[in-house]
Amino acid sequence: MKKIGIIGAMELEVEELKANMQVTQIIKKAGMEFFEGTLNATPVVIVRCGIGKVNAALCVQILADAFQVTHIINTGVAGSLNAGLDIGDILISKDALHHDMDVSPLGYAPGVVPQMDCSVFPADERLCRLAKDSCEKVNPDIHVLMGRVVSGDQFIAGKEIKDKLIHLFQGDCAEMEGASIAHGSYLNQIPFVIIRAISDKADDSATMDYPSFEKAAAKHCAKLLMDMVEKI
Ligand code: ADE
Repeated sequence: MKKIGIIGAMELEVEELKANMQVTQIIKKAGMEFFEGTLNATPVVIVRCGIGKVNAALCVQILADAFQVTHIINTGVAGSLNAGLDIGDILISKDALHHDMDVSPLGYAPGVVPQMDCSVFPADERLCRLAKDSCEKVNPDIHVLMGRVVSGDQFIAGKEIKDKLIHLFQGDCAEMEGASIAHGSYLNQIPFVIIRAISDKADDSATMDYPSFEKAAAKHCAKLLMDMVEKI
C-alpha cells in the first residue's frame, strides 16, 4: 500500500497540509514531529524537518525506517537561478545535486560525491508528471517549470554565488534541503520529487523579497500537493 512522506523545512511549508489532514498519530523522533494519517483519503506522513541538509537527510532515513514510506515529496520555497522563473512561479525537480560538495583538490568535479555512482539524483518521472498536471489544474495562472534543484547549507543572496550556481551546475533554483532528500531517497530506493515555489531571486534583493513572498509561495505548493497525493 502506498504511504507518502511529505517534508517541508519550515512550519509555514507544512502548516496548511497538516491543517487539512486527518491525524491518526504524532510520533517524535530526532526532534521532529511526524504526523501520520490521511490527506484526501491518501496515507501520508507529514513532517517539518528543520532547515539544512543534515536535518533533511535524517528525516528521510526516519521516514524510510520507521514509517516505510513508498514515495517522498519535498515541498517549500526556493531562490530562482533561472531568468524564466519569477517570484511565485513553481519549479518541479527534474533532478537535484549538492552545490556545496567540493572535492576538487583531489580531482573530482565540483558537486561530485566521491565513490558514489550518482551525484545528480534524478526525480521520479511519474511524480514529476503528476505534480505538473496538478499544478496546471489548481494553479492555472502560475508558471510551472521542470528543472534542476541545487542545494547547500547556505542562503544564496548575491550575484557572484548565483552566477556560479548557474554556470557550474546549471541550477534552476537554489535551496537548502532538496539534494539531501534526493540523495537519501536514492540510497533507500524511494521515488521522490521536489516541488518549490520561488520566493526570491537569490541575488542582492533576496533578503528583502524572501520575507515578503515566502508565505504566499509556500501556499501555492500546498494547494498543488493536496490535489496530487490522491493520484499517486
Ligand atoms: N530558500 C528560499 N530562497 C533561498 C535562497 N535564496 N537560497 C537558499 N535557500 C532559499
